[in-house]
Amino acid sequence: KTTLLTLADGQQMPQEGFGLYKVTGQQTISAAIASAYQAGYRLFDTAQLYQNEAEVGQALADLRVPREELFVTTKVAEENQGYQRTIASVKDSLHKLQLDYVNLLMIHWPIERAFFDSWQALIDLKKAGLTKSIGVSNFQMIHLQYLATQASELPVVNQIERHPRLNQAPLVKFDREHGIVTQAWSPLGRGTILANPVLKQIGDHHHKSPAQVVLRWHLQSGVAFIPKSVHQARIEQNMDIYDFELTADEMAKIDALNDFHRTGKEPALVYEYNKKW
Ligand code: A2P
Repeated sequence: KTTLLTLADGQQMPQEGFGLYKVTGQQTISAAIASAYQAGYRLFDTAQLYQNEAEVGQALADLRVPREELFVTTKVAEENQGYQRTIASVKDSLHKLQLDYVNLLMIHWPIERAFFDSWQALIDLKKAGLTKSIGVSNFQMIHLQYLATQASELPVVNQIERHPRLNQAPLVKFDREHGIVTQAWSPLGRGTILANPVLKQIGDHHHKSPAQVVLRWHLQSGVAFIPKSVHQARIEQNMDIYDFELTADEMAKIDALNDFHRTGKEPALVYEYNKKW
């Protein structure tokens, strides 16, 4: 159902995916992934930090679909950064996921100095065929600029917190100018924005829920996004956004909801930490 985006390395990535942060337990994960697959999701996003790679791997195996149908992404945890640790941890991730390769491998958070060595490891892991594409998560412009000048290749995806209360316009623009697809985590602001009257009013106009309005806003913004839910009806609802269109005026109204509200970790702290170099 969802659009395919062509990444800078030529690989194709579904614009909408299924997030698995904080989804735990084999039964819950299996049910969520089965519902999501049924509803049309093909991208499944996990991370070493989520501690659910083994359960996600089992749930994906249980789908019994050709590997080429799935787009699986994982991320290297902070504690596994550095060249050797990155290589070893990714092999461990693949083992847990029951996969020969992932489609997209990302550095989860930029860690002082270590992120550059981790990035070299990702480049080599791609050469070795253990991932199709390499990207980063939670990188600020300064980190991307560093890679742009020091590394032999740039990430093709930057996964960041993005929703109407934190629309990240400057970083999304920077990513785009560098051929990097922005992928939104917590695209619904962890549900905290859904009571907003502006979203409700726009939704009523289109006979859609506030969540569907927000996801459609991501879609029309040209970014990728990975909503999550453990409820089948919501999993389906979040894919049911391809039969309506927001007007330019509605898009602008949603853009105007930005108030820099974060649901997650403050990357400015990471930035301060990194300022040393
Ligand atoms: P639940 O899993 O109970 O359905 P985000 O993707 O921004 O992190 O937001 C995920 C949160 O939003 C989860 O708590 C999820 O709850 C909730 N959620 C997901 N989809 C919807 C929806 N369509 N309507 C309302 N809440 C939703």
